[in-house]
Amino acid sequence: MLNLVGIVGNNWSGSTNRQLLQFMKTRYAAQFSLTLLETGQLPLFSQDDETHPTEAVQHFRHAIAAADGVIIATPEHNHSIPAVLKNALDWCSRVEHPLTGKKVMIVGSALGPMGTVRAQGHLRQILDSPGLAAQVLPGNEFLLSKAHDQFDAVGTLTNQATIKFLDECVTHYLAFLNA
Ligand SMILES: Cc1cc2nc3c(=O)[nH]c(=O)nc-3n(C[C@H](O)[C@H](O)[C@H](O)COP(=O)(O)O)c2cc1C
Repeated sequence: MLNLVGIVGNNWSGSTNRQLLQFMKTRYAAQFSLTLLETGQLPLFSQDDETHPTEAVQHFRHAIAAADGVIIATPEHNHSIPAVLKNALDWCSRVEHPLTGKKVMIVGSALGPMGTVRAQGHLRQILDSPGLAAQVLPGNEFLLSKAHDQFDAVGTLTNQATIKFLDECVTHYLAFLNA
């Protein structure tokens, strides 16, 4: 069984990106385990602290290092990724580099009609930096727009075409992981 981690790109209780990862955890439980990693509990990155990070930072990095793959769910904040997600990635780019060579799938959910397209573009660029150097699944963009209307009361995506597209992206990601 593949052991994946899902990075929650926002830090508030109502995050639809967390909901999306929880939906994926349930829907694909027969194909992989998905452990959600929160970004909101990490301290603000400082070079003063990089050689003695908190336990939360160490746990976050070690979980990524031990995983077979990483799914990052990003919202879009002011046309880019949220500060908490950038902060988490900065912690993974200094002293220890758990994302280097790691195969990453990006998904994203936003209120707007563009569904994180700009944030996902930035995230690809960030993950290509020398300190991160992740391998990002090419050719697949799972964009969930109008996010607050997409889930039912128990957190299931309601649109069957959306679920079918997510299934296809996940199939491509699993092939990428196994290649
Ligand atoms: C500070 C801030 C900036 C935002 N900027 C954008 C944006 O640029 N594009 C967009 O589609 N939505 C934007 N939104 C709305 C988000 O899409 C919405 O809050 C969405 O639910 C975020 O994902 P989440 O549910 O995981 O928090 C913004 C929200 C906040 C709080």
